[in-house]
Parts: sequence; structure tokens; C-alpha cells
Amino acid sequence: MDLVIRNATLADGRRNIDIGVEGERIVAVETGLAARGAHEIDAAGDLVTPPFVDAHFHMDATLSYGLPRVNESGTLLEGIALWGELKPQLVQEALIERALHYCDWAVGRGLLAIRTHVDICDDRLLAVEALLEVRRRVAPYIDLQLVAFPQDGLLRSPGAFDNLKRAIGMGVDVVGGIPHFERTMAQGAESVRLLCEFAAGQGLRVDMHCDETDDPMSRHIETLAHETWRTGLQGRVAGSHLTSMHSMDNYYVSKLIPLMRESGVAAIANPLINITLQGRADTYPKRRGMTRVPELMAAGIDVAFGHDCVMDPWYGLGSGDMLEVAHMGLHVAQMTGQEAMRQCFLAITETPARILGLEGYGLAPGCQADFVLLGASSPVEAIRLRAARRAVVRRGAIIAEAPRAVSSLHLPGRPDSTDFRIRR
Ligand code: FE2
Repeated sequence: MDLVIRNATLADGRRNIDIGVEGERIVAVETGLAARGAHEIDAAGDLVTPPFVDAHFHMDATLSYGLPRVNESGTLLEGIALWGELKPQLVQEALIERALHYCDWAVGRGLLAIRTHVDICDDRLLAVEALLEVRRRVAPYIDLQLVAFPQDGLLRSPGAFDNLKRAIGMGVDVVGGIPHFERTMAQGAESVRLLCEFAAGQGLRVDMHCDETDDPMSRHIETLAHETWRTGLQGRVAGSHLTSMHSMDNYYVSKLIPLMRESGVAAIANPLINITLQGRADTYPKRRGMTRVPELMAAGIDVAFGHDCVMDPWYGLGSGDMLEVAHMGLHVAQMTGQEAMRQCFLAITETPARILGLEGYGLAPGCQADFVLLGASSPVEAIRLRAARRAVVRRGAIIAEAPRAVSSLHLPGRPDSTDFRIRR
């Protein structure tokens, strides 16, 4: 075999597993694999997982923090205004370079699939052209999925629907939307209807920024679920953010969640961004603003965690580390039970892979040989430590490596080093 990983632990708890790779595919996942590999790695009991997947990102804005100025209030609306100032100044080469730089970070973090929204409200579609070029260049190492995103509103921004159709014609993969940013609730609903009908006609997936407010009366997710069902898009639609669900009336939500389940609509929460942008107008008590993650999961709805922003007009932190995203999501959702923490790990791996429709994703014979060896013995420990990515493998080739996190100590009567893991 070309590559064999020995003595791995898998996310489902299986231990002493050997993983055999031939060419770009996994051909064996078993204990005591007899075949030798041309190259072998001793996992030494560490966790091997399929790559991290980010279901929600904005690659056209990433690494632009401070351009042309920083977001002083830290609010969503100042971020949108700031992005509006930056847009006319965007230069294609610089945008491509920032995106490629971010993709380097992503690979280093074992993040090998990203769904990014791309703003289509600029008639030049400069960002679309740039990210199509980035998608082409990173294809050997990252699955990049583009969403045509009318940042300034499909109906509110003149020409946005035409631009969105042009972007899809150019090769953008997914239909986006932002109903809560339209002028009225009715126009928001109309935008959802138009976009779902368009997507169904084109055979495309849908992923809308939906109800990204603290307004308990925002109802666009209900419309999105209904339109998904009406247009036959079940299993191909995601509602991103859904932060208003945090503030909705509980009785209303008891009807809404089954409607979402019935319509096969997935939910994508963005914990780092939701916890910083929502509840900004509150005094105290101050709402968290993230959608109802454990309740949605308990209903059998696919819920993924996205990164949303890294060093852009909305957020000045981040490094492409989905374990940091899961860590924050787990805290905000108070999902601290063992099974709940494992669900948070799935929300940055298997669940978003399903939402994106990635083919050949997983750790089983026949799957693509894409995986990450982490310096941790379980998904929970990986989240706790934001564990080192000991090796990142794409199509059977090692494309990134990092040493385990170890500190050298200079203490009387104590060991020389510690690696932050529980010794048993
Ligand atoms: Fe977003």
C-alpha cells in the first residue's frame, strides 16, 4: 500500500485501527492490517478524523481587517457598512492573494472543505471572478463551494437578482439570500420564494443568511422551510445563523422545529460571530443570540458550526481552526455532556460534509484518502486542546504537519516537559 496509519483511534471510539491507502482512496480500516505501506505513520493511539469542514464562511472579505478602517462599534450593521466602503476599493489580485493565504491557514488546521458566500451586489462581480479563480487553484487541496450572496438584499439592491443569476452562470455552486435585510418582512418572504424557485429550476442547493437578528418576530426560517417543501428542495437547503430563534416565543418554536425537520432544512450556527454580534443592543440580561443548537439536533435536524469570519469587517480574530469554533459553540450552547461534546465535533466534520454534499467523505474503505491525525485521543480532547494537527492528508499525500503541543518545564522536582494530556 502507498500509506498506512498504524494504531489510530477513530471519532466513533474504535481503537487500535490501521488505515490503508492506495492512490487517492482509503482501501482498509481494520485492526492488525497485514499489508505494509511504502510510507507508514504511527498514530500511537491518537485520533484520526475525516477533515474539518466549514459550512459557512466569507472568503471574499477574509484577512481584510483594518481595510479601510476597523469596526469600532463591533456591530453587524457597522460591519456591513464597512464592507460597503471596502467593496469599491477591492482589487482582484489582492483579494485572490488574501483568500489563498487563508486557504494555507486552513490546510494547516486540517480544514479541507469550505462553503464560502461571495457578495454578488457589486455589478463588476469582481469577487466572484476572484473566488472562482481561487476555487480552481486550491482544488488539489481544498473543496471550495461558492454561494451567490446578495449582501445588500436581493430586492433591495438594484440588479442583485440579475447579478446572482450571472454568478450562477459563471459557475457559482449554491443560491444564497438575506431575507431579514430586505426592506420589509413581506419582501424578505418574497426573496425567499424567488430564490427557492430559481434554485429548484436550476437543480441547485440553497444556503441563506436567515433571521440574523435578535428580533423574536423574524419569521423567514418558517418561509424558507415552507418554500423548501413546496419547491421539492428537501435535503438541499440550509438556513444560516437563525439567531432570531434564540429570542422567539417557545410555543412558536415548538411548531417551527418540526416544520424544519419535515422540510429537511439544515441549520448552520456561527458561534464565534453570533456570540459577539447578537445581543449588542441589550443592556442586562444580555442574550447570547446563537440559535437553539441542542434542540434542533434533538429533533434530528442537521446542525453544523461555521467560522463565518476571520479578520474581516465583522471579526478581528480567528485562524481557520474549526476546533476553536466547536469549542465556542459547545460553551454558548451549554453542550457540556460527553455525548453533547461529541455532537459538537460532528458539527465541524460529518454534518457539514452532508450539508455540502461532499462525495467520498469519511473514514471507510472506498472514501477519499483525506484525513487528519490529531494530537489528542478523542474528539472531546481534540476540542479541549484545539489539538495539534500532527498530519493532514489529502488524496493520500501528506500536505501539512505540526508537532504536538509540548511545553519544556524548568521546575524543581517536576518532569522536564508536559503535553497537556491526561496520563492514564
Ligand atoms: Fe455569514
